[in-house]
Amino acid sequence: MKHLLAIADLSPAEFNQILATAKKLKAEWRKGGNKAILKNKTLGMVFQKPSLRTRVSFDMAMLHLGGQALYLSPNEIGLGQRESVADVARVLSRYVDGIMARVFAHAHVVELAQHARVPVINGLSDYEHPCQALADVLTIIEHQGQLKGLKVAFVGDGNNVARSLMLACALGGAHFVCASPKGYTLDEAAVARARALAATSGGSIELTEEARAAARDADVIYTDVWASMGQESESAERARVFPPYQVNAALVALAKPSAIVMHCLPAHRGMEITDEIVDGPHSVVFDQAENRMHAQKAILAILLGSKTPKK
Ligand code: CP
Ligand code: NVA
Repeated sequence: MKHLLAIADLSPAEFNQILATAKKLKAEWRKGGNKAILKNKTLGMVFQKPSLRTRVSFDMAMLHLGGQALYLSPNEIGLGQRESVADVARVLSRYVDGIMARVFAHAHVVELAQHARVPVINGLSDYEHPCQALADVLTIIEHQGQLKGLKVAFVGDGNNVARSLMLACALGGAHFVCASPKGYTLDEAAVARARALAATSGGSIELTEEARAAARDADVIYTDVWASMGQESESAERARVFPPYQVNAALVALAKPSAIVMHCLPAHRGMEITDEIVDGPHSVVFDQAENRMHAQKAILAILLGSKTPKK
């Protein structure tokens, strides 16, 4: 594993290694602190979009492991505008031991990885949010004991978060159902990839337009915003289409009594999810937010940990 750009790129062994490492590092941190396994290592964090969780959890992950993170704001670098993506990758590689990038176009994290001499981590693109999915699986396993065999229902836009979650469920042998309005479902290429993975893990992938069918007997109900960053101009149209996909008490009542409700945050309370549900007994949204830090420690430890010196 040289980079983490997409869940689609992970082998089952790499996926399990990240989860096992995250569990270990979380337990160690809970006991009083992590060992400085990334002493003197540095991470450059390139942001084209705003962030709370990704920024702070990567920063704290590096700090806890003895390294240091550098935040580069959306105005700073001008990825692909002030300077070509390839040149940004080449230059940053001379200064830092790893690059985390939050970008609009997924092609930009791919291009960064092609030209960087150091590992590149996707901190969200328009296509995938792999760090989120890894934290989410960690959270599901903590609350439900396992991922394999569970019914995981994503209700809402077939977006980056849904896509990474689907692929992670496919790797982990879960039964993933995505309920989205017509025209907003997951793309065929990702679904085909997930179905191929699910065929070997014992999982399954299903797409539906029926939120209620997805929620019925689910172990996990997951939702995300109706309009993602970069889709602001579509907000009004989406607000008209998506209300039948709101995660509210009536929908959650269809799931198993033991079901957990998940959201990557930030949430638009009163739109894709009600206050009652975010703040209610099924919600694990803040555990998910915390687990971003633990999952990312694992990613950083694996990618930056025992590197041979740069050429
Ligand atoms: N879930 C998530 O990635 O949050 P931020 O956009 O705040 O980083
Ligand atoms: N789908 C959302 C996730 C934010 C963490 C977005 O891309 O804006």
